[in-house]
Amino acid sequence: MVAAAIIVDGRLLLAQRTRPPELAGLWELPGGKAEAGETAEDALRRELREELGVEVSGGDRIGDDVPLPDGRVLRAYRVELVSGTPVALDHAELRWVDGRELGDIDLVGNDRGWVPDLRVHLNGW
Ligand code: CDP
Repeated sequence: MVAAAIIVDGRLLLAQRTRPPELAGLWELPGGKAEAGETAEDALRRELREELGVEVSGGDRIGDDVPLPDGRVLRAYRVELVSGTPVALDHAELRWVDGRELGDIDLVGNDRGWVPDLRVHLNGW
């Protein structure tokens, strides 16, 4: 599983989940499941095109691996916006947060451990 940290002008893009019910309303780094044969960068590019309607590049790791209960691993990558403006095509809402706001927002549990790593790159903390 891949998740994207898109940071522009010291703010991180977060997306609010709509499903499943136990995660709906919580915020996450957008991303999803890598398909067979996809590299992490391929998966990020596809997922962000589908979910946000943007083109991204790059893919330096940020934060630690998060082991999921089903045996898969969730990894976060820092990516750069190449074109487009993010739109919530698959989420309830999008938000750009600075370092202080990141501490106040209800993140999905899996993403919470990345907060200190993300904050280093954000304004206002
Ligand atoms: O759309 P797809 O099934 O590829 O992925 P998803 O529903 O967005 O994400 C699948 C699972 O990955 C979720 O149920 C979450 O457990 C996990 N996930 C997460 O914990 N944090 C993220 N930033 C992205 C995904």
